[in-house]
Amino acid sequence: MDRRNFLTHTALVAVLPWVTPAIGAVPTGRESMLGLTAREDTAQIVDDGGPRTRIWGYNGQVPGPMIRVKQNDWVRARLINRLPVATTIHWHGIRIENAMDGVSGLTQDAVAPGQSFDYAFQVPDAGTFWYHAHTRSWEQVARGLYGVLIVDEAEPVAVDHDYVLVIDDWRLGQDAQIHEASLGSLHDWSHAGRLGQWLTVNGKPREAFPVTGGQRVRLRVVNTANARVFTLSFGKLKPHMIAVDGQPVNPRSLGKFLTIAPAQRVDLIIDMPADPGESASIDVITRREVIQVAQFVYDLSSDANAAKVVSPISRLPSNPLSTALDLANPERTGLLMEGGAMGGMQSALLKGERRSIQELIKEGAVWAFNETVGMTDTPLVSARRGQTVIIEMRNQNRWPHAMHLHGHHFKVIERKGNAVDDDIWRDTELVQPGESVSIAFIADNPGKWLLHCHMLEHQAGGMTTWLEIA
Ligand code: C2O
Ligand code: CU
Repeated sequence: MDRRNFLTHTALVAVLPWVTPAIGAVPTGRESMLGLTAREDTAQIVDDGGPRTRIWGYNGQVPGPMIRVKQNDWVRARLINRLPVATTIHWHGIRIENAMDGVSGLTQDAVAPGQSFDYAFQVPDAGTFWYHAHTRSWEQVARGLYGVLIVDEAEPVAVDHDYVLVIDDWRLGQDAQIHEASLGSLHDWSHAGRLGQWLTVNGKPREAFPVTGGQRVRLRVVNTANARVFTLSFGKLKPHMIAVDGQPVNPRSLGKFLTIAPAQRVDLIIDMPADPGESASIDVITRREVIQVAQFVYDLSSDANAAKVVSPISRLPSNPLSTALDLANPERTGLLMEGGAMGGMQSALLKGERRSIQELIKEGAVWAFNETVGMTDTPLVSARRGQTVIIEMRNQNRWPHAMHLHGHHFKVIERKGNAVDDDIWRDTELVQPGESVSIAFIADNPGKWLLHCHMLEHQAGGMTTWLEIA
């Protein structure tokens, strides 16, 4: 990930000369309809002074407008399509009514250019969520069609700041424009997916978070990249994790790094040292370099910089998620994950016919679940409402996959043959090459729900299936 093409002076910037404009929160109460116009525009995602990049964004912005509501509120949003192609919006991680899930071809028809679609849904869970295009998402998300959706707890959580860090990587040409020639590249589809070489946080190269010593910060980290798993380092700061994919967890120390796969969210609590260290920054670590993406900028004029008594971090209030798994009588299914470069897949079913790998490659159909590329007529699982479902995923290829289930949160109950018992409920789980991971959830949301890899090129190349809940 080489930023130097665009940015030659990074290393010299010791003190960030700008102040963070907070992403504008748009109130969407019962009465108001939020307009989300999907359209082409330009955005300053490379440094000021560099060219603006042509993007597709909601209301012309990237990230799109931040939607912020209270738990149990309604979100009402009108998608107005001013793109040259059809689109839809998926509300990632929201346990939503099926008809509002935004999956074209499964829960609604794609919204044609010039048309609009009204989404209206109640948000049952407080937490950090996001929304993104769910029609040719490998292209539309890469071009910028995503935003953050925050659902606030009924009672405000005691923090001094509530900050968001949306991380994305872009593949840009030398002209700082989205590299279009490689959209849909078979190499990306069969390898790790589309990886970019230009990093943005909250739609720009770097973020600065104002703080004073002793303050408590809630930081909501969201990975909106098509395919990149990010590793973040917080220097000498000691973050605690308080929520994963929108669901509260028992607060726990993060350890040295945060690994966050595409579509995942992690909420952290960071107590700012009273003595402002130089290392109050957030870095993205890659195999080749360390890139500072955000900095906590101390207000040294404030007398609040004195040490504060640090109060314990309490657990966020639980969401109304059914967690009483019935592991004795589950609906159980296996999910063999095959394909990709060096994966050794010889053939698979495509639209009901067995095809050789040579034929599959011609169609970009390079991934399979249970020997089948892409969607099937019958669901992977049919469950009764309220039933516990176990899916035993076996990653038999050379690539990691960020497996996402719509409409539900699940728990990992087994990894590599060992039972797992923790309190984490996710909507997206990273499954490493060679790993077996079993997930369990209560099928309490009726409808047709996707299960797919959130490396969006893998999804498009065949790693997508669905479940039906009566
Ligand atoms: Cu965030 Cu089916 O996706
Ligand atoms: Cu994948």
